[in-house]
Amino acid sequence: MTIHPSTARLFYALWPDPATRDALAALQPAVRGRLVPVANLHLTLAFLGSQPRDSISLLGALMDKLPLQGFPLTIDRYGHFRKARIAWAGPSAMPDTLLWIYNALMNALAQAGVNVKSTGGFRPHVTLARDAEPVDAALPAPLQWNVEKIVLVESVPVQGGVRYVPLASRSLS
Ligand code: 2AM
Repeated sequence: MTIHPSTARLFYALWPDPATRDALAALQPAVRGRLVPVANLHLTLAFLGSQPRDSISLLGALMDKLPLQGFPLTIDRYGHFRKARIAWAGPSAMPDTLLWIYNALMNALAQAGVNVKSTGGFRPHVTLARDAEPVDAALPAPLQWNVEKIVLVESVPVQGGVRYVPLASRSLS
């Protein structure tokens, strides 16, 4: 029997379609660090941390308040967060729609009285590796991700890492 604790570690993310996920995985060999398992590659919109499990349906429904608009996201650069020791790939320009959706999500969360763990501003990135060195390569070619889905995800600790379990999703088209 699986025992579920009364809280869950939650975040909202853009989840790549299989072709985009494979294209993101193809960027990993240039990176030195502990590679993120391919199935876990994603772009975090908001990290909520530990939340009561009985708030999950409200948090899922909250995505209905977001603008219904897919958008292209051009992943065209590597980056490195020195303190967090994360190597990532991301856009060098923030699409207006992404910012619009992000702000709408922040407003909806604030209205619902849900705290977001902020790491100081929204810097869209897909973490490719942890405990990572700075990346000294350029992206071979820009990767076009047609973003069509937002998901509410639970981060479940498993032996040697985490497993991400989608709990609810919202199609943007
Ligand atoms: P990261 O990829 O930059 O580490 C699940 O942990 C997701 O939430 C990860 O993508 C992680 O981003 C993001 N996240 C943001 N803030 C976090 C925090 N304070 N602790 C753990 N994960 C966080």
